[in-house]
This record gives sequence, structure tokens and C-alpha cells, in this order.
Amino acid sequence: MPLLFDNAAQVVTCAGPPRARRGNEMGGLEVLTGAAVVTEGDRIVAVGPRDTVRAAHPGAAVVDCGGRVLMPGLVDSHTHGIFGKPRHEEQELRAAGVGYMEIAKRGGGIHSSVRDLRARSEDDLFALALPRLRRLAAHGTTTVEVKSGYGLTPDDEIKSLRVIRRLQQALPLRLVPTFLGAHEIPVEYRAAPRTREEYIALIVEDMLPRVAAEGLAAFADIFCEPGVYTTDEARVILGAARRHGLQLKLHADELETAGAAELAAELGAVSADHLAAVSEGGIKALAAGQTVATLLPGTMLFLGRPRQAPARTLIDAGAAVALATDFNPGTSPTVNFPLVLTLAVSQLRLRVSEAVLAATVNGAAALGLAAETGQVAPGYSADLALFDIEDVRELPYWYGDQRCHATWVRGVPAHGA
Ligand code: NIG
Ligand code: FE
Repeated sequence: MPLLFDNAAQVVTCAGPPRARRGNEMGGLEVLTGAAVVTEGDRIVAVGPRDTVRAAHPGAAVVDCGGRVLMPGLVDSHTHGIFGKPRHEEQELRAAGVGYMEIAKRGGGIHSSVRDLRARSEDDLFALALPRLRRLAAHGTTTVEVKSGYGLTPDDEIKSLRVIRRLQQALPLRLVPTFLGAHEIPVEYRAAPRTREEYIALIVEDMLPRVAAEGLAAFADIFCEPGVYTTDEARVILGAARRHGLQLKLHADELETAGAAELAAELGAVSADHLAAVSEGGIKALAAGQTVATLLPGTMLFLGRPRQAPARTLIDAGAAVALATDFNPGTSPTVNFPLVLTLAVSQLRLRVSEAVLAATVNGAAALGLAAETGQVAPGYSADLALFDIEDVRELPYWYGDQRCHATWVRGVPAHGA
């Protein structure tokens, strides 16, 4: 039966072309008052003035929005949602002056999550991830990209990706799986007798073919950063990933400038993520190309680093900016996407309209889904979030709160509803 969403204080449609919004376009957010929305099955079929819409759908069941704000479900295009134990001890170490890369050199950081994940079964990882993804959903997120990357052996990476596949079946959320076998060079390949070249060959010759054969990932990603993978290594790994039919993402210029944003644009990657240390050349390359600049301000906040990505410069140069949580146990253990919008406005100096489009339309574009989700418009998937606010500007305002009242994914009640 069709559902008629009535009595919303605002319907924030994000309507527009089915592609990333860039530069000035990010300022153009459509907010309707006195509007209603109709969904039928998994699709949005009507958006418009409530009297017209009601008259055209007399048989629809009414969902009373109760004077709240109805908008597209948030699209979180960057998470590392498959991990075991939390890493709270590292937070105190950083407070005492030990940096993120120094912790990694001592065998902590990603290596610590890798040791932990390898020791866990698929069932165990599934049981840990399920409530974590539900918490993401409870903040208004309806689409979540989830990366592997704490396995770093063929079997442990496949195990992680299979957990994502099971979660997709168990949860009313749209999940997008990403293979991140190139998250780190595992410790056993960092010293003789094994070499990093051998690990890269393992990714290219063993992991990628298996991931592709099982259809376990839509994207391949790499941590392209001084001290982790070089841009030359990224070329090799991402080139192989593309030959296996995967779309590309990069952790680019997160902590230090390395030309990773330029590489992402050159390779036509769907997104370049982090960018706190992007160069001027990288900004120009992203502004000129199609690659979405995905910014993760929660990460820099949690790491206690003073430098955030140059969001204003990116947008003013004409780039398409997306926002995401980077939910992971090391650098961003938050499930609260609206909090990331707060940081986007207060730290990255985005306008609210820019932040909202960055978390919906541009998040979807960063997953190749801009024609499927991220807009309240006819033909789009019925992925909706209802927030307990009267004006969309309250979304980043009540920071740290949990204002999501309900969500629907493909027309099916997900959180709350
Ligand atoms: O996006 N930078 C690489 N990956 C994650 C952190 C992973 C971790 O520390 O566990 C990130 O920040
Ligand atoms: Fe990340």
C-alpha cells in the first residue's frame, strides 16, 4: 500500500540532477513547507503541495510526520565497520603526546585491530558489527559503505567481506562493500624474510581475484600515505582492482601531503577521502575532475589534530564535497553522522545547505548511487529520515544529540518507525 508522509514542518528534498553537486551548486538546497511525500513499494512516487498530493493518492496510508523535518536518509560513504575490540587505550596515549603514526610503529593502531580480527570468527564479527550498524542507523543513516581492511590475509579479508554480505541480508540498511586489503603492510611483511612487494603481489594475484570472483566488493580502497602505501604502489593495486571490475577509492593525503588526491583524479577514482593535507595541485585536480572529495572531520577531531581539510577552498574551487563518519576503532569511533555535520559547519565552515547535500546527494555520488538514493524525488529509492527538529538548520545545531525519530530504507521501516 502507498504511504503518504504528511504534516512535516519541512521536506528537505535535496532534489536536482542525479550526480554530485559541485562548487556553488552545493548552496542550492530545496526545502519545502506544506509538502507531502508518497512512496509505493521501494520507490518515492510523488513530492509536492500536500493538498494536491493527498487528492492524487486517496488510498494511501498516512504517516504523520508530527511537525518534524523529513529528508533523504543520510549516506555514510566511508566506514570501517568490521572490527573487533575498541582501541580506547590509544586515545590516552595520543593525549600524552604519542602520535597516530608512532602508535602504529609500535605495533598498535591498525596492526592491533588486525591481530584482534584475525583471531575472531565470522560469526563473532557479525555479532559485533550488527549493533554497531544499528547505532549508525539510529542517527538517520540509511546507506553505509563498509570496508574490510583489518584482516590483511586473503582469508581474513574474505571473512570480513562475507560479514558485510551477511549484514546486508540481516539489516534494513543499504550497505556498499569495499575491499581494503591495502589498509596497511601487515607486520609479517615488514621485515625479512618477507617483503612489502610480496604483500602487494598477494593483493593483486590472490585477494583481488577472489574478491571479484565471489562478487564481494563494489569498491577497492587504499591507505595512500607516507609510511603506508606510496602513490606508485597505489597505481599498481588500484590498476589491478579496476581490471577486476572494482570502482576506486583512496584514503588520500590524510596526515601528510603525498600527491594522492592528484592520483585519485588522474585514475578517475569515485572518491578521494580525508584530504586534510591535500596540496594546491590536489585541490585543482579534484575541482577539474569527477572525483568526489570526501571529508571526515570527526577523524581530525578525535585524533586531536589541528588541521582540517580545506573544505571552503575545495568548494570555492568547484569541487564536489561529501561528508562521512569514517566510523572505525582507531581514529573515529562515532556513529553520529549529524555530529559530523556540526563539525562541517563549525570547523570546515560549510553552510548548512552544503553540509546537508554533502551528507546525502554527494555521499551517494561517492558510492556511484547518485541516481538511486540521497534525494526525496520521484523515482528515487524510498530512503527517508525523519528528524525531531522543525528546521533543517537544527540538524547540525543540537550537537551530539540523537534527534533521529525514524528512518525508512527502500520503503521499509528501518529505525524507529
Ligand atoms: O580512515 N587511515 C586509515 N584508516 C582509518 C583508520 C584506521 C585505524 O586507525 O584503525 C582512517 O582514519
Ligand atoms: Fe578511513
